[in-house]
Amino acid sequence: MHPMLNTAVKAARRAGGIINRATQNLDLLHVSRKAHSDFVSEVDSAAEEAIINILLEAYPNHAILAEESGAQGDLEKSDYQWVIDPLDGTTNFLHGFPQYAVSIALKHRDILTQAVVYDPSKNELFTASRGHGSYLNDHRLRVSKRNQLSDCLIGTGFPFREFLHINAYLAMFKDVIPKVSGIRRPGSAALDLAYVAAGRYDGFWELNLSPWDIAAGCLLVTEAGGLVGDLEGNDTYMRSGHIVAGNPKIFGQLLQVISPHLTKNLTT
Ligand code: IPD
Ligand code: CA
Ligand code: CA
Repeated sequence: MHPMLNTAVKAARRAGGIINRATQNLDLLHVSRKAHSDFVSEVDSAAEEAIINILLEAYPNHAILAEESGAQGDLEKSDYQWVIDPLDGTTNFLHGFPQYAVSIALKHRDILTQAVVYDPSKNELFTASRGHGSYLNDHRLRVSKRNQLSDCLIGTGFPFREFLHINAYLAMFKDVIPKVSGIRRPGSAALDLAYVAAGRYDGFWELNLSPWDIAAGCLLVTEAGGLVGDLEGNDTYMRSGHIVAGNPKIFGQLLQVISPHLTKNLTT
């Protein structure tokens, strides 16, 4: 395993331990609201701090972009940047709904090179290194082979705190439903992308995500042989947060259903 990935795995497992311990006393957690339907708990912050400490201890000159504490170091000048979501799926976590993960990605000169998505409730460790494939624990991952949208299980996430794109999203949803075999909304975008990599879903789409939700998951998908794009199939998804992913056959078919509902403010 690449030494930088190894460090990221160590950090993700440490954060996972903090998260797992906290599930025993969910009632005692101190939770605050960042915005409408946007909660943060002391666990998010403690997990993030543990991750950053481990990464910076090994690589003091690397820059960090983390959901709760923001940027550290020089994001523009540093060759290496870690992108961290200490707990993706906080709402699930707070309800004891076991679908959440730690997500850590490394970019080298803006290219994703290492990725970890760790689901501590199921002890599932998804990892990828650029050029070396994606793994779930010790097993190499490949995206699914399904090639008909009508046979496919599709993951998604719908707007719940910002409603700017709700009409466009609902139009997409309405069009996708009758064309696929099923749609799921488990509530952790990082795991959704990991599930595309693992072939559990055949495709996924969501609007308005943040870089820390998707950075690690995107590398997992591409290293497992899948495709990731924005709503026009291009590569602005890390900036816009509008993302479609899938096996190579389904990616294009899903885009064809979704892209007619692109509105002007979704393309900018
Ligand atoms: C959220 C989850 C969710 C997605 C949201 C994200 P958080 O992350 O990934 O699936 O629909 O848009 O913000 O806030 O739980 O880290
Ligand atoms: Ca997140
Ligand atoms: Ca989070």
